[in-house]
Amino acid sequence: MTAAPAFPLPFAPRRIVLGSNLHAALAAWIRDRRPDLEVRGAKYTDISAGDLAWAEVYLGFKRPPADPTLGSVRWVHSTGAGVDGFLLPDGLDPRLLLTRPPESFGPMIAEWAVARILAFQQQLTELAAAQREGRWAPRDIARVAGTRALVVGTGDIGRAVATALHALGCVVTGVSRTGTSVHPAFATVHPVSALPTLVGDADWIVLAVPDTPASRGLFSRDLLSRCRGAVLLNAGRGMVLEEAALPAALDAGWLRGAALDVFATEPLPGDSPLWSDPRVMISPHISGITTVEGAGSGFLECLAELEAGRLPRWTVDRERGY
Ligand code: GLV
Repeated sequence: MTAAPAFPLPFAPRRIVLGSNLHAALAAWIRDRRPDLEVRGAKYTDISAGDLAWAEVYLGFKRPPADPTLGSVRWVHSTGAGVDGFLLPDGLDPRLLLTRPPESFGPMIAEWAVARILAFQQQLTELAAAQREGRWAPRDIARVAGTRALVVGTGDIGRAVATALHALGCVVTGVSRTGTSVHPAFATVHPVSALPTLVGDADWIVLAVPDTPASRGLFSRDLLSRCRGAVLLNAGRGMVLEEAALPAALDAGWLRGAALDVFATEPLPGDSPLWSDPRVMISPHISGITTVEGAGSGFLECLAELEAGRLPRWTVDRERGY
């Protein structure tokens, strides 16, 4: 393995390009705090090759299509927790520094997961349908307490999900790359290789892993066939799951339902059978939202480290992909 070239420090860039839907508010937020910086912005699809030839820093979620090599940029700061938009499919020049946001998306994604798990147990969709039809239709709602959750990914997001589910009385099992992660919300943590023996015991399977070459397709049809009636929640990335196998997994009863925030193709194509499947709850990639303040303060935190001559602790490990 060749070591990545060292990034020259200290680094005190002045020309910043924002490729984000939040660019106007984010540029104003940054200029207010650092008037010495020159900031330009647009939606990432509208960033020009000229902007990238001018810039030293790019802030955004994905590479701008106008120049995926990113012109003169030397530092990329991701506004999203997942950096697959920069590293996949074909990597990012190893001379560029890539950092991810210090902002914690865990608590918000935990609430997204809890809302869906409660919706399944409380049969909210069925009750709402009966209400619209004016039907008094008692149903057996169920407790979350005492059920078993499998949380795949024990980083910031997985831990926040585990903490929330543990507080609701779930027994939570964790799965991480190495199986060595420790956190009081997990009853036990296992390596990814144990998944085939774990999924059959879970009532809820929550995917909180990034899209990396190691995680792509992890939840294959074969793994889904080992589930025994779990509800699958995906708040990570669509590519981690063999999405095309979901209808069969639901029909076979391997899965009781699914709550999906991320998809292999986004927006989810109109002809996907998932849209009309009553066992599936769809949300449009909103479980962990980047805020202006979160993105701005995370960027300034990393910038301060670089100006002081240190690599930010949020520097992405290129081998792991997060
Ligand atoms: C959203 O998907 C993110 O990576 O923050």
